[in-house]
Amino acid sequence: MPPGAFAGQVVLITGASSGIGRAAARAYAAQGAHLILAARREDMVREAAREVEALGARALPVRCDITVAADVERLMREAEAHFGGVDILINNAGLGLFGPVEALAEEQLRQVFEVNFFALVRVTRAALPLLRKRPGGQILNVSSVLGHRGLPLLGGYCAAKAAVNALTESLRAELAAERLSVLLVSPGFTETGFRQARLHAEGWRQSPPPLKEMSADEVAAAMVRASRRRRRDTILTLPGRLMVLANRFAPGLFDAVARRMIHRMARRPEP
Ligand SMILES: NC(=O)c1ccc[n+]([C@@H]2O[C@H](COP(=O)([O-])OP(=O)(O)OC[C@H]3O[C@@H](n4cnc5c(N)ncnc54)[C@H](OP(=O)(O)O)[C@@H]3O)[C@@H](O)[C@H]2O)c1
Repeated sequence: MPPGAFAGQVVLITGASSGIGRAAARAYAAQGAHLILAARREDMVREAAREVEALGARALPVRCDITVAADVERLMREAEAHFGGVDILINNAGLGLFGPVEALAEEQLRQVFEVNFFALVRVTRAALPLLRKRPGGQILNVSSVLGHRGLPLLGGYCAAKAAVNALTESLRAELAAERLSVLLVSPGFTETGFRQARLHAEGWRQSPPPLKEMSADEVAAAMVRASRRRRRDTILTLPGRLMVLANRFAPGLFDAVARRMIHRMARRPEP
């Protein structure tokens, strides 16, 4: 990859305090971008800012809870005051949820939709005026392979990411005439703090996945490649791509395999 593919461009990343978002900040900085880093854990966004500054980028760390409208408005005001506009918005912040649909508290379902879906819509709408200040902007939404196929015990999270996928398609068509690209990147299992941070139905837990996990840096490299090529849809990992194919051609068989695999990873509540 040639150095400086994003030289001087401004990239705003939500969920930049850890995992994939933080790795993406380093990956875009290594390509010459400047970064706006948003998340709730202020100390960690500041650390992320120091990391990208060490790579030569300018960085604006912003404490922001994307579920709070006033925080998102302030984020955009600070972004505009600091950089004047945004070239690439990366909607990466996310929250997981584990447990059978029957056992999920409605409040948990709402929270997972609030972070993964409604807040993504809020951030996107607030960022559009800043994206329009630059030619050829991009919105990159981080979904999941689980947004392409519902799996047992992951229904709430799968549904929220499926909503992101559908919204991405609509937005892509709506913004095409303005030469604003809307991309979807769907990681598979990735080694981050995601499973520790996620919500669980009462008593339910999941042991580590049996499949090899990607690193956050590998996902970030794939995001940078998708951005450079303006690739509309990127599904990561071979198992992820096989899952989407198997679901298309043999959904019943895939149901049985998924049930066995996910239930083997689940720890149920004590009776
Ligand atoms: N890890 C995986 O296996 C995997 C697989 C497929 C897709 N994904 C997706 O990848 C994305 C990143 O996840 P990750 O694996 O890097 O997990 P992570 O390390 O837990 O990162 C999640 C990020 O989202 C931020 N966040 C959560 N709620 C927020 C809120 N209300 N306001 C602002 N920021 C918020 C967190 O920052 P603060 O806590 O500091 O706010 C954190 O930086 C998510 O969209 C996730 O669904 C992950």
